[in-house]
Amino acid sequence: MPTLYHGADYNPDQWLDRPDILERDIELMQKAHVNVVSLGIFAWCTLEPEEGRFNLDWMQEIIDRLWAAGISIDLATPSGARPAWLAKKYPEVLRVNADRTRQLFGARHNHCYTSPVYRDKVRTINQTLARRFGRHPGVILWHLSNEYGGECHCPLCQQAFRDWLRERYGDIAALNRAWNTKFWSHEFADFDQIESPAPHGENAMHGLNLDWRRFVSHQTIDFMKWERDSIREIVPEAKVCANMMYMFPGVNYFDMARELDLASWDSYPTWHKPTETLEDTALDTAMMHDLFYSLKGQPFWLMESTPSYTNWQTVSKVKKPGVSLFASLQAIAHGSDSVLYFQWRQSRGASEKFHGAVVSHDGREDNRVFQETVQVGQALCDLARVAGTKKEKQAALVFDWENRWALEDAQGPRNAGMGYKQELLRHYRGLAKNGVTVDLVNGEADLTGYQLVVAPMLYMLREDFAAKLRAFVAEGGTLVVTYWSGVVDESDLCWLGDAPHGLCDVLGLRRCEIDGMYDGETRRCVALDPRLPASAQGSVLCEVAALEGATPLMAYDEDFFAGAPAVAVNAYGKGRAYYVATRFEPAFYAPFYALVCEGVIGDAQLLPDNVLLTCRGPFTFLQNAGETPVTFMGVELPKYGTAVLEDGKRIY
Ligand code: GLA
Ligand code: ZN
Repeated sequence: MPTLYHGADYNPDQWLDRPDILERDIELMQKAHVNVVSLGIFAWCTLEPEEGRFNLDWMQEIIDRLWAAGISIDLATPSGARPAWLAKKYPEVLRVNADRTRQLFGARHNHCYTSPVYRDKVRTINQTLARRFGRHPGVILWHLSNEYGGECHCPLCQQAFRDWLRERYGDIAALNRAWNTKFWSHEFADFDQIESPAPHGENAMHGLNLDWRRFVSHQTIDFMKWERDSIREIVPEAKVCANMMYMFPGVNYFDMARELDLASWDSYPTWHKPTETLEDTALDTAMMHDLFYSLKGQPFWLMESTPSYTNWQTVSKVKKPGVSLFASLQAIAHGSDSVLYFQWRQSRGASEKFHGAVVSHDGREDNRVFQETVQVGQALCDLARVAGTKKEKQAALVFDWENRWALEDAQGPRNAGMGYKQELLRHYRGLAKNGVTVDLVNGEADLTGYQLVVAPMLYMLREDFAAKLRAFVAEGGTLVVTYWSGVVDESDLCWLGDAPHGLCDVLGLRRCEIDGMYDGETRRCVALDPRLPASAQGSVLCEVAALEGATPLMAYDEDFFAGAPAVAVNAYGKGRAYYVATRFEPAFYAPFYALVCEGVIGDAQLLPDNVLLTCRGPFTFLQNAGETPVTFMGVELPKYGTAVLEDGKRIY
């Protein structure tokens, strides 16, 4: 039976002295059509109050009761926060900051992922849980830790970093070449001389910084695998997931997702921010949903969201009536098979006591948030057959963690911020406003099956990916490349020769110069093709290129580079490649992609303001992100309304 899951983080360990509340929880969960909870994410001190003394009976009771009520369990490993006894007895589990100070006990998500003691203690508690509950019919999934991230600079991690480098480079001469260590006389004679980047030490050697980020990502995933494998030793068929975060820089999620059965993420958009329209917020969120779908090319889970407000945004706005349903169905439209919340019941104390939850301090079921949660639950029941359906391959938007690390670390040409995400988002919005299905892919992607590949700011362009892009266009694909592409290799060493490296002939041009723009500074560009906006402002970086066969579609209209191409297209093999020389204002991208998609993506169509269209299997989701009703494709959409069509016929 296809099922869309509805539920929340459930922390009954905070309420063990209130059996009445625990009982009421189940009753309310049933009313809200809850069919899964993530259980015990931060319950370690309750599960193992003293080293080696386990207390699992309360959890057994809860699991049995949930299961009897038809609620499945996504059982957490509790490694996201450690008990005090563990930190006291084994200080090596405490993380060391970049300035080499060791943290004290407290907070969460701050352990050394290398520490053998931490790994051993985590393995013990995980296996204890797996032995007791791993074969319980209610346990359908394992929630590995919580939001893995962060870095540790302790001696154990330094050693692991050196071993990782030795493995990567083989000999120190290769490392010296990759990091260009002759610069400022930083050559290393031995791997033992290497330290992680530090504010009071080395921090501007880009090769070192990049490899450190690679190592941190590797080590985090290695720890996650350790957790996964500790469970699978006991329950080989155990399914595992880990909850990931919005634009999180610290872990290469493409690598992480490969090791998981299911990708999932925690989504907390800033709905109702005065400087954004709801459509802006929705499109920003949509790009993330598409990223988490793309990680495995499979439906993902929305693991956390708030039914009302957070407590950590600058200002915590409540979701206006209808927005919880809008946001939840948007996730489903983009490939989620679940809507879960943080959290089920609002905590009484500590730092998240004012974070929204399905059940608030008043405990009432007649309040708006609870009632709207019931509505979401009902909608997920109505749409159950959407579960498991996949999305068609149309456009691939290249979003590469390594590129991001290198690009954001570079000094110059604009230290005021390069805005990689903003650039990605402009292209994403341009595609989404043409109803195009977008996957986010990295520089290791297989491009077969896509009609269009968009590679914004592909600063780090590895030779093999350049070859893939060339082949893609040669065989008939359409490619979009922007300024600040093909600049460095995988070690962050500048490519020598014509630029953008590996793509000059595909693009039919050559980069000559790059001018940085201050915030607010722009350069006017004018259209040479009537299908594009008559004029648009370039910002951030203005790249000046010399045409070598490409046809200009827009040109700069001021400064010494007036007349140089701002947008160009080139025929290459059976396909064509577009070049965008600067960052335009957001409004440029929808008409630009309307032009790019012509004859490339059959069903692309420019959507009216506030209308969002997303396809998943035979289902088309239409949503109105605006406050006034709209009619589109013959369907009337009220304010924040959603309609779902199955093979063109309305089912919701
Ligand atoms: C994260 C965490 C949760 C909780 C929420 C609050 O996503 O995983 O434990 O702190 O944020 O928004
Ligand atoms: Zn460490």
